[in-house]
Amino acid sequence: MSSQHIVLIGFAGTGKSTVGKQLASRLGCASTDVDAEIVKREGEEIASIFANRGESAFRAAETEALEAVLSSRETLVVATGGGAVLAPVNRELILRSGFVVALKADPERLIERVSQDPDRPLLQGNVRERTYKLLEERKHAYDFAHLTIDTTSLAVDEVVERIAQAIQ
Ligand code: S3P
Repeated sequence: MSSQHIVLIGFAGTGKSTVGKQLASRLGCASTDVDAEIVKREGEEIASIFANRGESAFRAAETEALEAVLSSRETLVVATGGGAVLAPVNRELILRSGFVVALKADPERLIERVSQDPDRPLLQGNVRERTYKLLEERKHAYDFAHLTIDTTSLAVDEVVERIAQAIQ
């Protein structure tokens, strides 16, 4: 039986990785990033997996990495990639693994944040157009969370505090 994890879901740029690390240190547990786990397991960067093997290979690797991470016996704060919730099998895995927190933010804030870190294969080209399109496609994708926090105008430590309060 695996532990009850805290799983962060949400669109790219909502702050999952940053919040995840800080939340883990606040709670005194370890944090894991599913994207980083994919890179480690595949021995290849995310952008390169997309470019060389396509999105479906990336999604398959994502499900495997998610399964591996969530089966940990140690309680973890887990930051997932923005598309990790799209496959029903992943949603099941996430929901069964513990407390699910969705982070969201206004589109313009997301665009601002992802533009600073351009290493996102699905947001290449016209970032604004791609972001609005994906946001529309995924508008209900994160609705299954137990808690949703809008990070648009919150500092990271405020987001962390809200999550910590909710799980006490
Ligand atoms: C993706 C988001 C990325 C990464 C991959 C696909 C998506 O993670 O998993 O590029 O489908 O939204 P972040 O949400 O950490 O950027």
